[in-house]
Amino acid sequence: MSLAVFLEAIEQEITRTEYGESPVELYEPISYLMSLGGKRMRPLLTLMAANIFSDNWQRAVKPSLGVEVFHNFTLMHDDIMDKSPIRRGKPTVHKKWNENIAILSGDVMLVCAYELMTAVEDDIFKQVIKRFNRTAAEVCEGQQLDMNFASGNVVTEAEYINMIRLKTSVLLGFSLELGGIIARAGQENINLLYEIGTNVGIGFQLKDDILDVYGDPEKFGKQVGGDIIENKKTLLLIEAIEQAKGQPEEKELAYWLSVKDFDKNEKVKAITAIYNKLGIKEIAETRMNEFFNRGLAGLQKLDAPDTRKQPLLELVELLIDREK
Ligand code: IPE
Ligand code: IPE
Ligand code: MG
Ligand code: MG
Ligand code: MG
Repeated sequence: MSLAVFLEAIEQEITRTEYGESPVELYEPISYLMSLGGKRMRPLLTLMAANIFSDNWQRAVKPSLGVEVFHNFTLMHDDIMDKSPIRRGKPTVHKKWNENIAILSGDVMLVCAYELMTAVEDDIFKQVIKRFNRTAAEVCEGQQLDMNFASGNVVTEAEYINMIRLKTSVLLGFSLELGGIIARAGQENINLLYEIGTNVGIGFQLKDDILDVYGDPEKFGKQVGGDIIENKKTLLLIEAIEQAKGQPEEKELAYWLSVKDFDKNEKVKAITAIYNKLGIKEIAETRMNEFFNRGLAGLQKLDAPDTRKQPLLELVELLIDREK
């Protein structure tokens, strides 16, 4: 089965899904955000993993949408937390409506995600919900660490990697794992799928952090420079702080990280210039490739024919080169 076939099945299911009707202020933002698209990477991962080990990947479609709705719920709240004005090229929910609406719509979205997840077969239900619960709690843990780091000072690279493992990569791990559980892939393969997903997920978030500085605003669909404005402790910033030690850039960087009242464009320009001088993008890309390669190495170890793994391999390659 090809990526296009899986994507079509996901989009059809999204069109069919009803989240609720009244009050409209609660449910309209859900349809709004879900209809803005996005890569649908997480449900794609679930369907691809399911199809590696079973011909009946269709039974994974509804639960895969549970993961996508959960992801969109985290985005709705994340955009409030990050003060982000744009998502998928359109105004974020808290900007289009208001923060209270984004909080409550997000809350009910989490419920909708669990409702979709109940579509798994009875014999695996408890296992799936337990793993989903653990993953969801970890995403919150990662998001809190992200907030803590942004308002604090020194963060090590190891702390950063752990933070993005929690906020982003465990959900990619779970997406693949879910496909494996639904396809009854056997525990060894299921564990491997999770490991592949978490490594790819760390590479994926590193790419996101690089695009946040170097993305083309037209393609990226989010505000470029948002992480710089918010003092997000991305690998780029952590590396820059490290590389700037004893250099003329050290003071300038410290100034921009401490100044409270500033022109956003000016700050983004100044810090990007420091990154450029210190060769930070290349350092981040090297780390990113390491994690993607670990994911690809894990894929080779899965106990299934190469032809079955091909779509997943292609998806990972698309993610490495993505511009949005
Ligand atoms: C955005 O996720 C949040 C991160 C974990 C970086 P995606 O980049 O998968 O967002 P969409 O769903 O494609 O818009
Ligand atoms: C988001 O990380 C992770 C979650 C939503 C859990 P970011 O804050 O970097 O994601 P974007 O850049 O807003 O999509
Ligand atoms: Mg965030
Ligand atoms: Mg964000
Ligand atoms: Mg980001």
